[in-house]
Amino acid sequence: MSNQRMLLTVGAVTMVAGVIIGAIIGHFATSSTSATLPNKNSLTSQESEELELMSQLRRDRWQEGGKEMTRRINDMVSTDNLRDNLKELTRRPHLAGTARDDELAEMVRDRFTEAGFDTADLVPYRVLLSRPNATNPNLISLNSGQNVEWESHYKEKELHQDDYDEDFVHAFNAYSPAGTVTTTPGEGVIYVNYARVEDYEELDKMGVNISGHIVICRYGKIYRGNKIQNSERWGATGVIIFSDPKDVAVEGQTPQEIYPNTWWLPGSGMQRGTTYMGDGDPLTPGWPSTENAYRISKEEADLPKIPCQPIGYDDAKVILEKLEGPAAPSDWIGGIENVAYTLGPEWKPEYSTWTLTLSTHNTENIYRSYNVIGTIKGEVEPDRYIILGNHRDAWGYGASDPSSGTAQMLESARVFGELMKEGWRPRRTIVFCNWGAEEYGLLGSQEWVEEHTNKLQARGVAYVNVDTCASGPIFRGRSSPILWDILEEMTKVVPGTKGQDNLSLHDEWSAYTKWKSGVDSIPLATLGAGSDHAPFAFFAGVPSMDYAFKVDSHKWNISTYPAYHTGYETFYMVDKHIDPGFKIHQGCSRLALHILRYLADSSMLPYSIEQMPKTMAKALKDLKIEGIDSKLINIYDKYVLLEEAVDNFTVEAINFEKSLQDISPNISPVTLRAINDQMMQLEQIFIMPSGLPGRPMTRHAVFAPSQFDTYAAAAFPGISDLLYLIDELSGKDLTKRQNEIRRHISDLTIMTQNARKLLKEMHII
Ligand SMILES: *[C@@H]1O[C@H](CO)[C@@H](O)[C@H](O)[C@H]1NC(C)=O
Ligand SMILES: *[C@@H]1O[C@H](CO)[C@@H](O)[C@H](O)[C@H]1NC(C)=O
Ligand SMILES: *[C@@H]1O[C@H](CO)[C@@H](O)[C@H](O)[C@H]1NC(C)=O
Ligand SMILES: *[C@@H]1O[C@H](CO)[C@@H](O)[C@H](O)[C@H]1NC(C)=O
Ligand SMILES: *[C@@H]1O[C@H](CO)[C@@H](O)[C@H](O)[C@H]1NC(C)=O
Ligand SMILES: [Zn+2]
Repeated sequence: MSNQRMLLTVGAVTMVAGVIIGAIIGHFATSSTSATLPNKNSLTSQESEELELMSQLRRDRWQEGGKEMTRRINDMVSTDNLRDNLKELTRRPHLAGTARDDELAEMVRDRFTEAGFDTADLVPYRVLLSRPNATNPNLISLNSGQNVEWESHYKEKELHQDDYDEDFVHAFNAYSPAGTVTTTPGEGVIYVNYARVEDYEELDKMGVNISGHIVICRYGKIYRGNKIQNSERWGATGVIIFSDPKDVAVEGQTPQEIYPNTWWLPGSGMQRGTTYMGDGDPLTPGWPSTENAYRISKEEADLPKIPCQPIGYDDAKVILEKLEGPAAPSDWIGGIENVAYTLGPEWKPEYSTWTLTLSTHNTENIYRSYNVIGTIKGEVEPDRYIILGNHRDAWGYGASDPSSGTAQMLESARVFGELMKEGWRPRRTIVFCNWGAEEYGLLGSQEWVEEHTNKLQARGVAYVNVDTCASGPIFRGRSSPILWDILEEMTKVVPGTKGQDNLSLHDEWSAYTKWKSGVDSIPLATLGAGSDHAPFAFFAGVPSMDYAFKVDSHKWNISTYPAYHTGYETFYMVDKHIDPGFKIHQGCSRLALHILRYLADSSMLPYSIEQMPKTMAKALKDLKIEGIDSKLINIYDKYVLLEEAVDNFTVEAINFEKSLQDISPNISPVTLRAINDQMMQLEQIFIMPSGLPGRPMTRHAVFAPSQFDTYAAAAFPGISDLLYLIDELSGKDLTKRQNEIRRHISDLTIMTQNARKLLKEMHII
């Protein structure tokens, strides 16, 4: 958002005020006997109310609050409160649907109520959750004949006081089916690196046949669900996933070099996590899991078919060091000491009679899981929603994921409450959503969005997701392009988190970018999946944002923070190693408050419309650079019309933004609202009601992640999905795929043309 536009916004509003006053004068002139200005004392109570309403309509509370309000908010966010919040949230494990999770849901609701929210409710859904068997843990065993030579661990070693809780869930991967698979004597497992498509293709090239084997892969690079899916596709019978020291303990594996002395993961740390590839309750794909809703059977649900179990690197070592077989490519070699990383599956000669058994005992049942929904009613436009979301459930203590974000949410609620006590009210409604069962596959948020899709599409201005506030020092924000400028502008009013008083969060963000990639501009990126913004962004088409403070991946070359989803993601870890002093939490809460208030209080929505077509144009340019456009033109020569439509849309968006600057002094508040609505609907133009080809739950045709790595962001995901492995098709299959591509490009062109039309004068259909 440019400063120029901000000033013009104020100008426009002042003009609106003039019009309204004019209208009121007109009203009184015709309805009263004298044609003079009404005397305030002579107004009926209804007339006074109307006058008051009009005066509210013209206020731009964001500008009115000015720097003083920004400063107030920054001052009010307390590191002590944030620390206390985190301590309480992480006191016990709080897995989705457990008693402690419900207790915390009630606590969150009560905090919303104490803050003075207008509503604060527990909203239950009944959803399918998966749990390991508490008395019969999942195990990997090495056997020689009938003798069990070794068994894997199913929980972390207690390394720091207070880190042990008997309710801490044993290691498992959610929705991985119960099952037992065993290798033939003399055979162990095949090492498949990260189990990415490219890893399996590499194995194909090396002549390694996966079919009928158990595979072992390391965590990292892609979503674990994709690892299972790829492994199934290549015919594996079971999957073992381990955390490799190269990703989780890069400075060494001695006690001095790992938790609790540093933030690096000990060898018994095991990453739990879901393997579900969809979003929402697996038994109600596309509709809400309300009490009496119809449910498909577990067999019909799209759940993994082969057993899978996570282990730590201590246990991985026991298995990998016994393998023989060809050497792995050099970049597949991880960091376990004294392990050669051979591919297997044969054991070394001394284990030539041994077998490996993978046994899982997970069960799936329906549980009640609560969302907590709180609202601060907007004073002028109560039917316009600015939404902040964070989930509550964790695999264990969840000190980073998600409790650092929940600690933020509770503090942000308190600060808004304080402001309300001082007389502030937002223009639009602010909604706080504390989601349940995110970790299983965004269950709470997806079900809620499915239940309220129509309302959210009609009334949702923006969704801001804050899952894990603090897992490292580096700020990262992503959003729909029309929110990019808001995100960037608001980081300028948040003080930096690294203790240098004269730097803003924006200064820190750009300094890091410059160090990392040598460029001066902020890396504004579109959204990937992996958290609760997904149903808002990719299913409903509500402009969405997601931000966090993360691990320095440039310094360490790792995908996520070491203790992610393990038993060592503790309060001590965050308090001692990740955010001592809670400055990161503070920055996280301040940013949420400013973004929400900016969107809630500006009379004209501060979206940047141009960013959308410009981002589309850039994506098409990238296709050109990669030579993909000629491939598409060969299949469908009308592809050039898509490029033309995007160019047209860009011109229209630029004109639209210009016209906002030229807004007539005679604009009515009704027109102002209509312009806001025009902008609010833009993102939804790209929602395909029946979803992307083959993906009914992912409906955003432009900004959504590609199918083969749900963590990564991409533009035009339908195109990359349809081109995937197309060279391997022939005959009828190829013709079918080519027709799908033609249809999809045509759909994209029509949507883009409609986006352009949406920005034209309103009477033009
Ligand atoms: C857990 O395992 C025990 C021992 O095998 C068995 O008796 C029990 O039924 C299992 N529980 C569930 C919920 O499957
Ligand atoms: C791989 O092994 C499976 C089962 O052993 C067999 O059916 C298949 O033909 C093999 N594939 C190749 C390419 O050798
Ligand atoms: C901030 O202050 C530090 C010293 O406290 C100084 O080195 C630095 O240049 C200042 N940065 C800016 C942007 O003013
Ligand atoms: C990061 O690690 C990958 C292998 O996992 C390697 O290919 C890449 O070169 C590394 N990058 C840096 C900057 O070290
Ligand atoms: C682009 O705009 C021009 C001028 O309005 C129009 O003639 C043309 O058909 C548009 N192209 C597409 C693909 O919509
Ligand atoms: Zn999370």
